[in-house]
Amino acid sequence: MIELGVNVDHVATVRQARRTYEPDPVWAAVEAHLGGADGITVHLREDRRHIQDEDVRRLRELTHIKLNLEMAPTGEMIGIACRLKPEMAMLVPEGRHEVTTEGGLDIASREAGLKEAVARLAGAAIVVSVFIDPDPRQVEAAARIGASVCEVHTGPYAHAFHSRGRDEESAAVVAELDKIRAAGEAIRSLGMRFNAGHGLNYFNVEPVARLPGVRELHIGHAIVSRAVFVGMREAVREMKRLIVDAAHAAPG
Ligand code: PXP
Repeated sequence: MIELGVNVDHVATVRQARRTYEPDPVWAAVEAHLGGADGITVHLREDRRHIQDEDVRRLRELTHIKLNLEMAPTGEMIGIACRLKPEMAMLVPEGRHEVTTEGGLDIASREAGLKEAVARLAGAAIVVSVFIDPDPRQVEAAARIGASVCEVHTGPYAHAFHSRGRDEESAAVVAELDKIRAAGEAIRSLGMRFNAGHGLNYFNVEPVARLPGVRELHIGHAIVSRAVFVGMREAVREMKRLIVDAAHAAPG
């Protein structure tokens, strides 16, 4: 069964715009869960621009929702993860000047350090996911460092989908989707779990949900944006229905 992980960072973005206490991302997580989210993702950034340490701690202590802690593979973040023990840690590259995560982790160029990070997290019984571009070199490197999950970056696919007028059959969209499909096959053939995310929304999610073997989709911005108008529970319910129906209708 395909799962939906909801990223609630942007609820904290609104709160931080006023440096106040509302809206509360923990409350958003509970609402998302009631709408059908299978898990919650928060990205504790080094600059703490949205999610704060206290948010992660409260999510862990006040709820029983499966938590995916998105983080840069730094000593500080690994220490926090080992203390709070989320179900999953997702390693991403982090740039101070980026608006959002811009690309996958370049595992191939820094294998030794990442292998140590994965070992520390796995030693604390945390499932380790790595966010990678759909590139066979990165998939192989992910297996070598001991990751058990790869989240494939769907941003370029989402960009192609939007820029080609949401034409699912355009050559650019088909080419980007094929890269994700091939990466998914390689990930699974190496015994890792295949997740995907970034830039997915209510228009472009179905072809990704239909890919063979995809286990979880991680979606934030589109769901929080819709939640402003229809509420978090309903926004999640609509997304969950889209992905579950698409996965059911997929051949094989
Ligand atoms: N996956 C990763 C690794 C991300 O960094 C993000 C954005 O925080 C997402 C998924 C969700 O992306 P979006 O907000 O575009 O749905």
